[in-house]
Amino acid sequence: MRERALVSEIAPDTYRISTYHEPWRSTVNQYLIVDDEPAVISTGLRERFEDTWAGLAQVMDPARLRYVIVPHFEADECGALNDLLLRAPNATPLASMRTVITSLADVAVRSPRGVGDGEVVDTGTHGLRVLEAPYVHAWDGVVVVDERTQVVFSADLFGQPGRGEAIVRDDRSAVSVQLYRTFYGAPPEAYLLRALDRIESCQPTMLAPGHGAALAGNLAPYYRAYRVLAGETRATRSLDTTPLSAPLRKHVGG
Ligand SMILES: [Fe+2]
Ligand SMILES: [Fe+2]
Repeated sequence: MRERALVSEIAPDTYRISTYHEPWRSTVNQYLIVDDEPAVISTGLRERFEDTWAGLAQVMDPARLRYVIVPHFEADECGALNDLLLRAPNATPLASMRTVITSLADVAVRSPRGVGDGEVVDTGTHGLRVLEAPYVHAWDGVVVVDERTQVVFSADLFGQPGRGEAIVRDDRSAVSVQLYRTFYGAPPEAYLLRALDRIESCQPTMLAPGHGAALAGNLAPYYRAYRVLAGETRATRSLDTTPLSAPLRKHVGG
């Protein structure tokens, strides 16, 4: 039997819609901001669209969605975009200029809008500030900061494996960095440090990643652990020639 999406309110008007993806041994999270002009951040995988839609529908009528924010162009962040757009007639896809120009302008069934760095998407009572974070995992990536709740939607930064609870307060920074390293290798130092600087300066109350639990409580260990990871790239100063598939095989099997 298929597992349903898990739905949890993690902050005011802010819901985590989470499906478990066995091949990755992690959850795929969408975040719904219920407001005058409701927005969802990330769409989830196409194959889990019906579960995600049903999860959204537990909170509000998803046909009312006004914005679909795509953090970067990958299947878990936008695989279900067109399914969603077909059922939500007023929803506009929003993404970085890079994502729009190189991918969404062609792939999306409705014209997307490119959002500039630092631009705020006004949903009514929430303002969602979009910050470019290129080469932190994906070259076209953004993170989204809710200026009202100070929740930071960090996509593939700060994720963790496993089914996870909706919110955790204990320190999972080591396992988070390990997952990041396994999937993406070491990111370019300057870009990761810049993204961390920008995120920290927003003084987040919560980090809401695309995989695993939302993180609350003392977030300093996460920033520290990812800064150490950034330093590792500098220490090696050469290209890591280990095939990326090696650590991935260990994580997902095969
Ligand atoms: Fe991704
Ligand atoms: Fe992801």
